[in-house]
Amino acid sequence: MDGVIVIAVDGPVAAGKGTLARELAARTGLRHLDSGMIYRAVAALVLEAGDDSGDGRACRRRAERLVVADLERPGLRDQKIGSMASRVAAHRDVREALVGFQRRFGRTPPGAVIDGRDIGTVVFPDADVKFFVTAHVRARAARRHRELVSMGETADFGNVLQELSERDRRDSERAWAPLRKADDAVVIDTTKLDAAAAAEKALDIVRHRLGAASVLS
Ligand code: DC
Repeated sequence: MDGVIVIAVDGPVAAGKGTLARELAARTGLRHLDSGMIYRAVAALVLEAGDDSGDGRACRRRAERLVVADLERPGLRDQKIGSMASRVAAHRDVREALVGFQRRFGRTPPGAVIDGRDIGTVVFPDADVKFFVTAHVRARAARRHRELVSMGETADFGNVLQELSERDRRDSERAWAPLRKADDAVVIDTTKLDAAAAAEKALDIVRHRLGAASVLS
């Protein structure tokens, strides 16, 4: 892709795509963008303004005013924001407003590893390498539960499992850019794979596709 390299890492919530994308970026020297943070930042702006998350145009207005500094807002990782992000992200208006931001980021040399839901299908259908990272829903819920507990939040496993299943359904069934594996994406199932093993597997594929020099030691 015009001298820049784009690696797309898509998958459902808590599958390990963020961890994998960060490691891939560190080992290739590419930049990293967690596209979920963009939707989370818009959700935070919508909540703050008291807008109706069902109103696509109102949400789009927030998306259009998004600035990079908004991605650094505290609390964006909260479960409440994640849930709202999944609602806000279902609007075509919002997705259209945010696709340019992601493409500009990815096309800035030397390129980027971008994780999300529709990076390999919609945002960068011509990405150099595409991964679809997934895991059994209970394994993902257990990870998310551990993460919340380690952050000092009181979390009930049943509630986490339910919230995650609802988010999976919303992200997969929405009409615009639903979560789905690109035909040419390589699946990495992390149910029984730790982060280091998943990264090695992905790096092997990157080396194979882009040449050994694409991976720094
Ligand atoms: O990856 P995450 O959990 O931080 O994402 C939060 C929500 O944002 C997710 O439920 C769906 C939405 N999202 C999206 O629709 N497209 C993306 N590329 C990334 C996230």
